[in-house]
Amino acid sequence: MSQRHVPVMLQRCLDLLAPALEGPGGTGAAGGARPVVVDCTLGLGGHSEALLTRFPAARLVALDRDREALRLSGERLAPFGDRATLVHAVYDELPDVLGRLGIPAVQGVLFDLGVSSMQLDEADRGFAYAQDAPLDMRMDQTAGVSAAEVLNTYPAGELVRILRAYGEEKQAKRIVAAIVREREKEPFTGSARLVALIRDALPQAVKRTGGNPAKRTFQALRIEVNGELTVLERAVPAAVKALAVGGRIAVLSYHSLEDRLVKQVLAEGAATTAPPGLPVVPDRYQPRLKLLTRGAELPTEEEVARNRRAAPARLRGAERIREDVR
Ligand SMILES: C[S@@+](CC[C@H](N)C(=O)[O-])C[C@H]1O[C@@H](n2cnc3c(N)ncnc32)[C@H](O)[C@@H]1O
Repeated sequence: MSQRHVPVMLQRCLDLLAPALEGPGGTGAAGGARPVVVDCTLGLGGHSEALLTRFPAARLVALDRDREALRLSGERLAPFGDRATLVHAVYDELPDVLGRLGIPAVQGVLFDLGVSSMQLDEADRGFAYAQDAPLDMRMDQTAGVSAAEVLNTYPAGELVRILRAYGEEKQAKRIVAAIVREREKEPFTGSARLVALIRDALPQAVKRTGGNPAKRTFQALRIEVNGELTVLERAVPAAVKALAVGGRIAVLSYHSLEDRLVKQVLAEGAATTAPPGLPVVPDRYQPRLKLLTRGAELPTEEEVARNRRAAPARLRGAERIREDVR
């Protein structure tokens, strides 16, 4: 199974979280209690397995919205017994999940955003543009609207916005004009028709610039179908809030909008909120976070050569240094 998804920037993620999870209680765990680390994006459990192995004192709580990912990683993590608690949840539900488990604060949080290689490789999930499959793209196939519904029902202007914002697709207007023309003839059901349409809609010069011309549209649809940015916008602040003092967060993003959002939340936490000109800054205005990465860290060339899905990765980390003032 480890072949189905290679964990990205694994060593660096572990090193970033280590000071909070090592030792008897981890720096953030009170009175020798077991430190808790949350993997908000369990996937096939590559990062989770490494966390459990490297930090033998730690308890893992891991979330995924994809039941198939939970089933497969459940098998992989079974040897760790009750050190691992796997939960079917969208990651902005983290505060509820921790509340139900009676965990007031955690020492580590990891997000490895986006889709897993398993999701991309399973043709019938409809994420991939390389094979014909039903246009689904939901990470949780029991909830929400599919990519086909988005394509067949959204107003043209909304589709253009999505393709531009989430796919950074410069030819969004051209592609959407073709989609609207075609869906009036017959609604979209499979991915091959969409791929062919995009190929036909784009000018030759654009098609020569490398990669599959449908890639950006597929990414945009996936982000929309799963509400990825909306959920992330709630989840990262919630995760920061869940950290005990001394606790650490690491976030791997694969898209500039994700990375920008993460950067904003962490930078806000690391800034003082004091009005300018105060001679002494009272505690309640002091930063709650210390940044652990200078800008975003990138994978090494060696890693990208071994695993091309690591190429767009951007890693940011921070440490909780102060309680919220109530
Ligand atoms: C890149 S994979 C994680 C791979 C994992 N780190 C590993 O090494 O195997 C991302 C996973 O996060 C899940 N996911 C994405 N968005 C989510 C969300 N909002 N809530 C919960 N899980 C989510 C996906 O279903 C996918 O399984």
